[in-house]
Amino acid sequence: MKLWGGRFRKEENQLMEDFNSSLHVDKRLYSEDINGSIAHVNMLVKCGLLTKEEGESIKMSLLSILEDIDNRTLAIEGNYEDIHSFIEAKLTERIGETAKKLHTARSRNDQVALDIRLYAKNKALQVIGFIEGLQNTLKEKAEANNVIMPGYTHLQRAQVVTLKHHLMAYYQMLDRDRKRILNAIEILDECPLGCGALAGTTHTIDRKMTAEELGFSRPVSNFLDGVSDRDYLLELMSSFSIIMMHLSRLSEELVLWSSQEFKFISIDDAYSTGSSIMPQKKNPDAAELIRGKTGRVYGSLTSLLTTMKGLPLAYNKDMQEDKEPFFDTLDTVLSCLEIMSNMISTMKVNTKNMKKAVKSGFLNATEVADYLVSKGTAFRDAHSIVGSIVIYCEDHNKGIEELSLDEFKSIHPLIEEDLFEFIDYQNILNKGIKVEILK
Ligand code: ARG
Repeated sequence: MKLWGGRFRKEENQLMEDFNSSLHVDKRLYSEDINGSIAHVNMLVKCGLLTKEEGESIKMSLLSILEDIDNRTLAIEGNYEDIHSFIEAKLTERIGETAKKLHTARSRNDQVALDIRLYAKNKALQVIGFIEGLQNTLKEKAEANNVIMPGYTHLQRAQVVTLKHHLMAYYQMLDRDRKRILNAIEILDECPLGCGALAGTTHTIDRKMTAEELGFSRPVSNFLDGVSDRDYLLELMSSFSIIMMHLSRLSEELVLWSSQEFKFISIDDAYSTGSSIMPQKKNPDAAELIRGKTGRVYGSLTSLLTTMKGLPLAYNKDMQEDKEPFFDTLDTVLSCLEIMSNMISTMKVNTKNMKKAVKSGFLNATEVADYLVSKGTAFRDAHSIVGSIVIYCEDHNKGIEELSLDEFKSIHPLIEEDLFEFIDYQNILNKGIKVEILK
């Protein structure tokens, strides 16, 4: 039985029925759908649109459906258009006539908008929890590894930093990601129930009551908008895309750092895989997959942006296509945050090689220039003088700190013995990276 069969003279074509059905995708909204219906029923009873007995009967049956789905005695399958139709059909099977009153003053348009908002809000909170989990892991790894390493620009050794400072950069990125999601939750925190199909209802209902019962701050302000926008999904998916962008940068560094060329870290066997032909291989697949899945998340965002583009108000069936990209993005970002956290907490840091890398690449050249500035040289002149020091070092295959005072003096007379302390890597670090703001 179709929810809308009354005005049709012919059966729906089988191919069309399959094409139209979203049950295999939106079935994961079952608990939101049932909870939304229960709040709706409570409101209908309060407003005198259902009797107390009718309300109780519908509610009890909805709860039993929820329980049966939860404990898998009721499978969400069969020839139903979507999760809303499925649950209403099950309700009718269980309590007959009274079930037909549930949809009073409601449309599937405000129903689905409600379900997806409830779901998005809950899941966004879960993403925040996972972000915080990764932040904690990064902080722990950072605290345990306040060790010297080269910092890079253009992937060329640039200045000396610590692994702690480097990892904490990602902590800060994730902190902004967290705030972006909190902000998105605040914006989506409005209840669309009561918008009806697009124009509200002639029944006297209480939208504040349902909004409150379902944990929203308020009902939406405009019916057409309430049923037809999906900007809150797009906003979350944009935030998820930014998270993935950050994770993919970290992944790229893990891939590089675990290579034979860098050897800064080794990724735990549990998060690596081997090669079917080359017996010696240990590949950083987890990091590569996170990097790769970033493209998929961007793709989903672009897909939904494109679906929504140019749609006239209010609801259009195109919007049924919102769920797949949203769910996929959500699943992907959750699994990537978790895997990343596990990978970071189990990786081994090769402090020796990091230290060794600091020794070559003239990472204290900027500080030699700073030294000359402290002796009264203009920075541009100092920059050029240090340039010739670097050329001298390259020609003689030495690090800057390995030159003798006489060699320095032959290049510039202002240089004294105190330079050596000034350009010592640890001293540079103590001056440069003084403060770690940890929460
Ligand atoms: N399955 C639909 C969706 O996800 C529910 C709303 C259907 N509304 C309608 N008027 N056909 O968008």
